[in-house]
Amino acid sequence: MSTEANLRLGDIAPDFAADTTQGKIEFHKWLGDSWGVLFSHPKDFTPVCTTELGEAARHSADFRKIGVKILAVSVDSVDSHKKWIADIEETQNAKMDYPIVGDETRTVANLYGMIHPKSLDSLTVRTVFVIDPKKKIRLTMTYPASTGRSFDEILRVLDALQRSDKYAVATPANWQDGDPCIIPPAIQDPEVLKKNYPKGYTVIKPYLRTTPDPKR
Ligand code: BEZ
Repeated sequence: MSTEANLRLGDIAPDFAADTTQGKIEFHKWLGDSWGVLFSHPKDFTPVCTTELGEAARHSADFRKIGVKILAVSVDSVDSHKKWIADIEETQNAKMDYPIVGDETRTVANLYGMIHPKSLDSLTVRTVFVIDPKKKIRLTMTYPASTGRSFDEILRVLDALQRSDKYAVATPANWQDGDPCIIPPAIQDPEVLKKNYPKGYTVIKPYLRTTPDPKR
């Protein structure tokens, strides 16, 4: 199977069945009504990956609080993952309470285009797929093996996406929880503006309007 799945934003996240450190899962069923973060790492018992999986575990409660399930994947075996988890917990001050897929057959890696042979031969690079409750892919990120990801950034984007879905807002550069949000230019009807943005809004340019964070 091709490793160039070329999944795009808005595509339905491919379903799969897999062995994980917490038993067999069927991905869509496992997600249920939750949001999901599926993220690959290159290899067990490697330094950057150890810090990343530990960091994800330290944020486990933050993900849970906003209705997000996280699932890691690499082409190592479940047995290897289980041995490595002991090292992660020992060195990263973290409890590994989320599953890691053992993708020795590269089924998940190929479905999601996680192997970029010109970057890292036959191992998965550092991909992230954020998936919404309708199973649509809402964010993709790809990092090289040498650069660990920011799980604060992944949480920030989830917060922004959930804000957009619930309150019909967009979020500006470097937005953080509590910052003003942006009103999409397509919304012009005065009645809709009044109903959607009860805290009012500021017009900086006709196409650039901000409203206080509607969640606060
Ligand atoms: C790391 O996690 O440090 C790593 C993994 C694979 C290739 C290079 C670095």
